[in-house]
Amino acid sequence: MSFYNIISKELASYIAVTDAEEEVCELYSVYYSSGSKAREDRVDASRSSVEIEINGGRRSFTLTILQNPHINGELGQTGGVLWNSSVVLSEYFARRSTDTWDLTPLNIVELGSGCGLVGIALHRLGARRVVVTDQRRMMKVLAKNVELGRTKGMLFATEYDWDKGAEDQSVLREPVDLVVVSDCVYHEAVVPMLVGAMKEVCRSRADGNRVVGIIGQELRSDLVHQAFVEALLESFVVYRIPVDPGVDAFYTLYAVWLK
Ligand SMILES: C[S@@+](CC[C@H](N)C(=O)[O-])C[C@H]1O[C@@H](n2cnc3c(N)ncnc32)[C@H](O)[C@@H]1O
Repeated sequence: MSFYNIISKELASYIAVTDAEEEVCELYSVYYSSGSKAREDRVDASRSSVEIEINGGRRSFTLTILQNPHINGELGQTGGVLWNSSVVLSEYFARRSTDTWDLTPLNIVELGSGCGLVGIALHRLGARRVVVTDQRRMMKVLAKNVELGRTKGMLFATEYDWDKGAEDQSVLREPVDLVVVSDCVYHEAVVPMLVGAMKEVCRSRADGNRVVGIIGQELRSDLVHQAFVEALLESFVVYRIPVDPGVDAFYTLYAVWLK
């Protein structure tokens, strides 16, 4: 069964997103009025190596992730350290992979992987093939984490700059089932490039099967979040995956696929 088939069986419990402004209003009203507080930081941006516990019920595990806090200090560079959404998204995949989300047949591409936690967690959860990607300057730390995190099976790191597109196409060599994105929108300027890259990956299948995108995004700025949802809605069907507001209040998960 394709990942799209799995997701489409769950749509009754998802929230269809059709208007970006309404979506942001709803996020603020539902989440902020629920009294939930921003969760504790799960990441530590000051260290060059962190142990991250992925609490996924029966599928819990710990990953060692190398960081480069120095890169992070440079203007416009954010991927040298982990972001909280990557822990939330990894844990969501871990929990779901114990029930209906069978990850084992999937070829997964992660965009803007930074240190690579989500992709490496998906590899650990048994995904058949995972390709983590980022800009050239992130490749050193990303490749090291891939070496550290690889168990058995296919886990690769390759450059994929949203500006340039998948130039060498190695990232799209095999039909992609799932594209994952964690916390890649921190400024309005990145929105068109990221959504462009998502379209490129989602259009890459020659057999016409749908590629699903799962996005984890922290709600930081209403305007930036709205711009992202607006850009997604131009080309994608967008559903919000409900998460426990007491737990993941500020972290929004979306499932998307091309219209
Ligand atoms: C806030 S970080 C999130 C990193 C990681 N996904 C996480 O959740 O920990 C955003 C990531 O997007 C990447 N990024 C920004 N612009 C990019 C571009 N044009 N092409 C590829 N990646 C880009 C950055 O290098 C960075 O790794």
